[in-house]
Order: sequence, then structure tokens, then C-alpha cells
Amino acid sequence: MAVARIAVVAGDGIGTEVVAEARKVLDAVLPGIESTEYDLGATRYNRTGEVLPDSVRDELAQHDAILLGAIGDPSVPPGVLERGLLLRLRFDFDQYVNLRPSRLWPGTTSPLANVKPGEVDLTVVREGTEGLYVGAGGVLHRGTAAEIATEESLNTRHGVERVIRDAFDRAERRERRKVTLVHKTNVLTHAGGLWARTFAEIAAEHPDVSTEYQHVDAASMFLVTQPQRYDVIVTDNLFGDILTDIAAAVTGGIGLAASGSINPDRRFPSTFEPVHGSAPDIAGKGIADPVAAVLSASLLLDHLGHPEQARRVSEAVATELAGRKPGQPVRTAEVGDRLAGLSR
Ligand code: IPM
Ligand code: MN
Repeated sequence: MAVARIAVVAGDGIGTEVVAEARKVLDAVLPGIESTEYDLGATRYNRTGEVLPDSVRDELAQHDAILLGAIGDPSVPPGVLERGLLLRLRFDFDQYVNLRPSRLWPGTTSPLANVKPGEVDLTVVREGTEGLYVGAGGVLHRGTAAEIATEESLNTRHGVERVIRDAFDRAERRERRKVTLVHKTNVLTHAGGLWARTFAEIAAEHPDVSTEYQHVDAASMFLVTQPQRYDVIVTDNLFGDILTDIAAAVTGGIGLAASGSINPDRRFPSTFEPVHGSAPDIAGKGIADPVAAVLSASLLLDHLGHPEQARRVSEAVATELAGRKPGQPVRTAEVGDRLAGLSR
């Protein structure tokens, strides 16, 4: 029997290039993974008009995890692939933990003058299935001077509690054991109240974890002025979307940022993907940095119960980054070969 069955959705642009390297590393560190490729993304949409046929969704559901490269191209109208593919996977597969670690790796530099490599190691646990992303709301009198548009944020006790529990569980496995709740409870009193009350209850069950609360505007500022202060941040879907871009930017850029859209109980497959996009401007040149895809593969290994292999992959990345000279051009396949060798 295969050690794991993985669906590979390489996608568009540099997605195919970086995923090939992530697979190299996976095969090196955990021989016996069975993978099946699925052709989804802008290229397929432009050819056939299909985004995610139900039959493909059902096949994906049969896998332990999905490794995704990047989806999108300027030729596809905004929203089509985002809602039809990426968000559909998150919702259909109940991927309620959107995990986004940010580390300032030795060998990389932050745009922040006062932050040194090794000082930032935070992880954002972003809610992935509720909030403003559910698509509730509507438009009246469209295109007229009287147009009214609403966008509603859905927050359930069940959804809020399970993601906060996950954040505390993760904090308990980390050195600093601290969880910061980020919301906007001073203005968004309905949803904010639910988040704050639930957080307080779960915090009381974890006396070994220290906690703090910040409004999202303050957290955005502190992420830029003092990112060192964070350990685990838990927040809703949209706040998490924004905060994780800031966190990536202050830790060497989106090119290094990995993510997992996780269904922790493993009833459905989780998706692991670099935060960066398909970068059509550099696609096909063999110069995309595969590190974010490889780090996403490390999250995949951890999720599937192979923490030792996951650690070897992230240590390989640490070695690779520490050895890079500033401004040195990256060759995708060479980096992948090195990382595979180091992870073995
Ligand atoms: C992300 C992206 C997505 C999001 C988009 C593409 C739907 O920005 O994964 O952060 O908003 O979640
Ligand atoms: Mn985003």
C-alpha cells in the first residue's frame, strides 16, 4: 500500500515548475507516495470552460492530500477560478484551518531594519470556511444610482470554536505557547463578541498557554513594527487573508510563504500550496524559486503524520537559504535537486 495518496494540481505558470521540485523532495524524503496529476486551472478553463467538474472533485476527495502549485492567469476574469476552484476546495473539503507560518530564515532579509534573521517565527491560523468568504449578501438595483450591495460575514459557534481550539493545540506544541486573537471587537460587536467569548472559554482550558487580544488595525501595525512578538495568531477569514500577506512581506516576501488549507480531522483531503501566484511574467524560464512549494510539502508531511520527514525538509530549506548569496539568481531545478539531496 502507498504511504500516501496525493493529488497533484500543478496549475498554471510557475505552478508546474515549482510543484515538480516539491514532488522531487517528497519522493526523496518519503519514498512510496502515490501521486495522480489533475489538470485544473486557467489553461483548462480557457480550453474547455471547466473549472472544477463534480467528477474531478469526487476523485480529489479520495486522496490524502492535494499538492497545488498556482492557479490563475490574466486571461481569466477575476473570481472565476478563485471561487470556482480554490474556495470551492476549502468549502467542499471543510478546510477550516488555513495555516500560514512565517519565519525569517537565516540567510534571508526582512525589509524591516530592526528585525534580524531567526527572530520571527509566527504562524497564523486563519479560519477558512466562514466569515465574509461565504458569499452571503446581494445586490439591489444593480447598475443604477440606487444600487445597494451587502456582503455578510457568517460566524458560527461551531466554526469559531474549532479553529480557536486548533490554534491552542498548535501553540501547545510550540516553545513560546502564546496565542493572539485578532478581530475588531470594538466595531464588529456581533461576530467579535462570539470570537472573544469563545476565545476566553478555550483559553481557560489551557492555563499553560498565554493569550492576548488585538484589534486588526493594531495587529497590522505591530506586524510591521514588532513581528517578533507573535507566536500563534488566530483570526477570521478576511483578517487572516490580509495579515498573512503582511507577515509574508516582513519575512522575506511571498516567494517563501507556504500554506495549508487543512481539514484537521482528515475526513477530507487538505490542500497545500505556496501563497504566491502563477507569475506568468517569469513562467517557463526555470527561474522560479521552489522554496514556498517545498515548504508547503513539508506542511503536507506534517499533516499526514510524518513530522520527522517534515522537519528534514524544512531544515533542508534552512540550509539552502543560509547558503544563498544576496542577489544570486535561482535555478528552479537546481534548488529542487539540492533540497531533495539535503532532505534524504
Ligand atoms: C489566498 C488568496 C485567496 C484568498 C484568493 C485567491 C481567493 O488571496 O489564498 O490568500 O483570498 O483566500
Ligand atoms: Mn490572500
